[in-house]
Amino acid sequence: MKLDQQQTFFMTGSTGFLGQYILRDLLAEGQRVVAMLRPPVAESGGRLRAQMQAMGSPVERFLENRQLLLVEGMLPNHLPEIAWDRTDAVVNCAASLQLFSDAAGDPYRTNVAGMKAVLDWTDAHRIHRLHAVSTAYTCGWNSGLIREQFHTTEPRFQTDYEKSKWQAESLMADWASRPGRTVTLYRPSFLIGDSETGYTCQFAGFYQFARLVSVLKKQYFDPNNGAKTYIPLRIPGRPEDRQNIVPVDFASRMIAAIVLRPELHGRIYHLTNPEGPTNNMMKRCYEDYFGLHGGYFADPSEVIGKCSQAESLLWDQYHLLTPRVVHTPEFDTTHTREAMQAADIQFPELTPERVYMLFDFAAARDWGRHANGKTTSNR
Ligand SMILES: NC(=O)c1ccc[n+]([C@@H]2O[C@H](COP(=O)([O-])OP(=O)(O)OC[C@H]3O[C@@H](n4cnc5c(N)ncnc54)[C@H](OP(=O)(O)O)[C@@H]3O)[C@@H](O)[C@H]2O)c1
Repeated sequence: MKLDQQQTFFMTGSTGFLGQYILRDLLAEGQRVVAMLRPPVAESGGRLRAQMQAMGSPVERFLENRQLLLVEGMLPNHLPEIAWDRTDAVVNCAASLQLFSDAAGDPYRTNVAGMKAVLDWTDAHRIHRLHAVSTAYTCGWNSGLIREQFHTTEPRFQTDYEKSKWQAESLMADWASRPGRTVTLYRPSFLIGDSETGYTCQFAGFYQFARLVSVLKKQYFDPNNGAKTYIPLRIPGRPEDRQNIVPVDFASRMIAAIVLRPELHGRIYHLTNPEGPTNNMMKRCYEDYFGLHGGYFADPSEVIGKCSQAESLLWDQYHLLTPRVVHTPEFDTTHTREAMQAADIQFPELTPERVYMLFDFAAARDWGRHANGKTTSNR
């Protein structure tokens, strides 16, 4: 879809994993983007160019024809003066993905104080439309069907990150309740690489676990026993539970499509996997890909904190994400399905071949350890 009228979006977070894809998709739709980058903009602009080149969407021509403008700014205290002609909407994709509070005050400083600063800036410039990326896990420990609505009662949270994102959502709900303002909120679950190319610049969660499996394989591999390695190993979780992993390009295509369709604004969208791979399917993928066998599912309470040496290598280092093994909420996707239909977007099914392609990409970059990517825990 190409719109007749070009709009201008003020965007934060375009150097991020999801942000670079949203930027790519908005530019491909002919839209103008004013991207706020952290100071010094010479460094962050260089980083953005290199990343966009690496994911296959160089931005030089958009910079040359001024469809993409780079401006300096940082949350929460340094948003730019407007030196361009108009801004139709704000796309806020910047966030701190720090799971627990650090000395700098993140994730609250960027996600909550930063959100407040974005809302104040938006008001000060009389901009009435905001698109913001949150997370499906602002539901905290809530279970049952999680609706595409604000969670008005504060849930219990697993991490400071989730809590900070819930607080940011509360600020947005307040802002949107005032006349003439529209917030459209996107809640992805766990993002993984590009479903077509395997590209990722974020190597947490899904990739961190695959890397640990590869380490385990190396440690226990004995050439005298052939290519397959057997280690009796308990896997905390239920075989038929589904993993809520979502290719980054699906999330960005959905966001760009909704941003450009005013009739879809003012709602919350769960950008989650309609039928994620089961733990059992992922186990088979790990077995086939790494040649590591012998794992069997067990009750998480029996495993976590009571591990054998081989199990410790996986689960001790993976402990930040193990709550997600026991908590697998079901996300309502009524709005998302309507938007998928309106924009003719299908969810890219995670077949084993696709999973192997994602592994291949990350393995070629040593699971992010030597790439210019981020290895911190995400979501
Ligand atoms: N990744 C996931 O699995 C996942 C899942 C669910 C929801 N989300 C949400 O999706 C959004 C994008 O996440 P992501 O994965 O793209 O994160 P990311 O790769 O860590 O990128 C974060 C972006 O925010 C910018 N940023 C961070 N702190 C900032 C500050 N104080 N001021 C200005 N900019 C700042 C970063 O700039 P620098 O490059 O300069 O650091 C970067 O552009 C976030 O809202 C996140 O909560 C992500």
